[in-house]
Amino acid sequence: MNPTRYSEQEIAWLQSVDRDTVWHAFSQMSNYAGLIIDRGEGNWLIDIHGKRYLDAASSLWCNVHGHCHPAINRAIADQLEKVAHVTNLGMSHPETIRLAERLIRLAPESLKHVFFCSDGASAVEVAMKIAFQFWKQSGAAPQERNKFLVLGNAYHGDTIGTVAVGGVEQFHRLFQPLLFPVLRGPCPYGSRMHSERSEAVAQKHLDAYRSLLEEHAREIAAVLLEPLLQCAAGMVYHPPGFLKGMAELCREFDTLLIVDEIAVGMGRCGRMFACEYESVQPDVLCIGKGLTGGYLPMSATLTSRRIFEAFLGDASQTLYHGHTYGGNPLAAAAANATLELTQSMLDSGTISDRTNQMKTELEGLQSMSMVRRVDQLGMLGVVELGGPSNDPLRRLSKRVCEELLLEGVWLRPLGNAIPIVPPLSISHAELKLLFDSLRRVIQRVAMEGDNSGRLAH
Ligand SMILES: Cc1ncc(COP(=O)(O)O)c(C=O)c1O
Repeated sequence: MNPTRYSEQEIAWLQSVDRDTVWHAFSQMSNYAGLIIDRGEGNWLIDIHGKRYLDAASSLWCNVHGHCHPAINRAIADQLEKVAHVTNLGMSHPETIRLAERLIRLAPESLKHVFFCSDGASAVEVAMKIAFQFWKQSGAAPQERNKFLVLGNAYHGDTIGTVAVGGVEQFHRLFQPLLFPVLRGPCPYGSRMHSERSEAVAQKHLDAYRSLLEEHAREIAAVLLEPLLQCAAGMVYHPPGFLKGMAELCREFDTLLIVDEIAVGMGRCGRMFACEYESVQPDVLCIGKGLTGGYLPMSATLTSRRIFEAFLGDASQTLYHGHTYGGNPLAAAAANATLELTQSMLDSGTISDRTNQMKTELEGLQSMSMVRRVDQLGMLGVVELGGPSNDPLRRLSKRVCEELLLEGVWLRPLGNAIPIVPPLSISHAELKLLFDSLRRVIQRVAMEGDNSGRLAH
């Protein structure tokens, strides 16, 4: 506990205005009572009462180097002395140019151009528009390709376009009347930690996508997928080989491959890009979240030269798309500093050490009666709770996260799953503290359940 710098009246005022005025994302406001964070120190958040929380969710998978990192703070402060904003429409800035060059140097070789946006959904929106327009003006025979082939349970953001390609019942079903039609294949449920049958599982799903492509390839502008792991779908890990297989199908059926690395990219998956695991060269790649270390909103859509060149010509071939803050120099400065840190952590083996520690901890949880599944890709882990029957236990993960908060660990549930997505900068001791707390709380909740007869299994 740290001393608070707020009086009781100030705290009461902040809580009441927050509840009554701020409409919080993905939150039922009728009974809202969230934390109010005053500041961050390294991997910790400190609320207005002075209580400290380990930010084990990296402030929604973004703050890969924690909070108030001196190098990122300095990069932003230095840039602020020069200029805060320069439009990307017909203008540029050295920091933004340096970032574009850096991204192309780091990204899969197929990618040569960078379109800057503001958040994950806008990066996916522009990826889809680029793919659609590409076919209209590429080569000698322009083609009308207005469908996207997407994965079951996909999540790519909350704008109408990204909701159309999404498939998470709870988030997307209501908006169906507003959405354009898409082709949807199965969700490739697999595992990274338990991959005994993975080849057969990958092949089964690839066969289903082959059938869809055989029938519809000429209508499909692009296959859009989150590679290796569908995070918001409830941490669905794909069987190894599925991504590579999908990339090969895209080549065989001459359609584009868009990969959404907004959650898994930027070092989060244990490599800079998830595509590296299966040596995949996508046509378009979207990044966001950890790009600026969670400091400022910025995302980017990277494309191949072939795609970029289809937009060269007269005014009618222009990509008429843009976001006011795309390429913002403050965000670019944060991103350059972040990527330098991430790269050096990848090179020094720090991320792989932490990943191995997380693997051991997750394996240790596996034997607990209330734990149905653990899995991991780099610094993206999951603990799924429940017994043999799913339904009565749906709120377990929520209860566990509420109890964890009392212990000073912040994690956010996703259905029955608890994603474990801590900062890449988490220390050995902090990661141990996280899992010690998680083990203790799961045990306690299971015992309370047993005592009340509700959770016994
Ligand atoms: C895979 C993926 N794509 C897109 C998005 C949307 O990003 P944003 O919330 O920044 O719009 C998310 C957000 O969680 C995501 O996980």
